[in-house]
Amino acid sequence: MASNSMNFFTTLLLLTTCLSYVASFEFQVGDTKGWVVPPANDTRIYNDWASENRFRAEDSVRFRYKKDSVMEVTEEEYKRCNSTQPSFFSNTGNTVFHFGRSGTFYFISGANGHCERGQRMIVKVMAQDEASSTSPNSEKSSAARIRTSSLGSLKFVFTPLAVWGFASILL
Ligand SMILES: *[C@@H]1O[C@H](CO)[C@@H](O)[C@H](O)[C@H]1NC(C)=O
Ligand SMILES: *[C@@H]1O[C@H](CO)[C@@H](O)[C@H](O)[C@H]1NC(C)=O
Repeated sequence: MASNSMNFFTTLLLLTTCLSYVASFEFQVGDTKGWVVPPANDTRIYNDWASENRFRAEDSVRFRYKKDSVMEVTEEEYKRCNSTQPSFFSNTGNTVFHFGRSGTFYFISGANGHCERGQRMIVKVMAQDEASSTSPNSEKSSAARIRTSSLGSLKFVFTPLAVWGFASILL
């Protein structure tokens, strides 16, 4: 009896831990195209991409690029493509940026002339209450999240399955 309720609470703890993990999401910027200078006739690709997704504070974005860089800057710096004092800079070719808060984030390429040619992006990260108050659309938008970032979502599909399997062994 005692060990049964122990198992139950262990399972509950495990589920809670894993569910909070499942709730975070990694988006690949630009999907398969990655982080590149957009074609001249389609310079809005990154803002279009960002507005098709719903981002929350616990989510992150992954930038994949070659001979380029990514910076987080202020709104003013974004507008002017000013890369002199970024608050975040990376040029590793594979950068994960974790939001950590709601609000608006501005990203630009630090490579010469790339930002001017449209390699920049505004990301709006929703507050927690904003995310839940828009629940009538949540089914549609979660489908969109999965479709637009299938690479990132794959592991989150399998985690609940694994937890479920583990839980049924315990119980
Ligand atoms: C941009 O130009 C390319 C090549 O000329 C073309 O295939 C593509 O459809 C154009 N895209 C837009 C959005 O006009
Ligand atoms: C670029 O940004 C920095 C810091 O915000 C500022 O000091 C500088 O004057 C800006 N340069 C231009 C050309 O706007």
